[in-house]
Amino acid sequence: MNILGIDTSCDDTAAAVVEDGKRVFSNIVNSQVRLHHPYGGVVPELASREHLRNIMPVVHEALASADLTIRDLHGIAVTIGPGLIGSLLVGLYYAKALAYASEIPCLGVNHLEGHILSIFLEGEPPSFPFVALTVSGGHTSLYFVERIGRYRLMGQTLDDAAGEAFDKVAKVLGLGYPGGVAIEKVSLSGDRGKIRFPRAHLAPNSLDFSFSGIKTSVALYIKKWQEKGDDADTVTLSDIAASFQEAVVDILVEKLMRAAQIAGVTSVVMAGGVACNTALREALRQAAAERDIKVYCPRPAYCTDNGAMIALAGYHRLTRGAKTDLAMDVRSRFPVDELTPL
Ligand code: KG4
Ligand code: ZN
Repeated sequence: MNILGIDTSCDDTAAAVVEDGKRVFSNIVNSQVRLHHPYGGVVPELASREHLRNIMPVVHEALASADLTIRDLHGIAVTIGPGLIGSLLVGLYYAKALAYASEIPCLGVNHLEGHILSIFLEGEPPSFPFVALTVSGGHTSLYFVERIGRYRLMGQTLDDAAGEAFDKVAKVLGLGYPGGVAIEKVSLSGDRGKIRFPRAHLAPNSLDFSFSGIKTSVALYIKKWQEKGDDADTVTLSDIAASFQEAVVDILVEKLMRAAQIAGVTSVVMAGGVACNTALREALRQAAAERDIKVYCPRPAYCTDNGAMIALAGYHRLTRGAKTDLAMDVRSRFPVDELTPL
């Protein structure tokens, strides 16, 4: 069963063709990074206009590189939320029209379910149950995954997402957008132990996150440092970036390990754009190895927003009886608890 997956939830126009929820025939992403770079973040109005320009060529490329035509498709899966309304609308209405004209099912997919399940695009997936950390520019959440279609939220950020903190700190450091990649790069030559930025643990045993405190603390530090405070001669920009990254990594790893312990699972999954971060992956592997926990992270192309994870989630819903609803609409907020359990 060939499913075309479309995601236009934020600033990437993405389309992919996946067979039976496993074999990725194509995975095309048109990034808008250069467009938003001067603004240090995504400008929603520009993003939706760019999706309008890109959606047809991206879908055509996804079909062409899979060596298929629309007639070879058995369904279309499209992200309906959460995300930017103007961006989501482009993907949804394009998908509806294409499905209607081709007389194939069109399924609305939750973007977060896509991230949670993205690990199943890889050869060796985890066994159930497991705990999943989805960590990106829009979300930082921990889920207990009982099986496909059954998720329980264990904790989430109370303010900024981890990726958002990376993006904001990068902006203050003048490193541009997207911040995660830039911070990771400059951190390589920095000393991660140079400055100890605060880690918000919240209540004992809390599985929630908070990144606004660390973001503000780094911003204040940078302001003083730029005004040539005491540390100006001994602390480099790389040291600040590395110390910030270390604080975020610490918190993410600690909470994911705690969630695994509370849930009593021996496998954890980490996905979403921030999960591309090598320092984070290494720290997680080390902490998990000490506790006999297996770590599963999709490759970077399946961590950042992509159509393949949407095709995969759509496949599982379609094969479990989900039906086309051409009246469906986009949702800026769409917690996974509101999904129909499978
Ligand atoms: O999953 P994603 O592509 O889009 C959302 O759904 O948000 O994630 C994008 C986020 C951005 O905030 C970006 O700065 C962050 O992921 N990111 C990283 C890295 N690569 C992307 N953060 C840390 N280290 C990275 N290597
Ligand atoms: Zn995402």
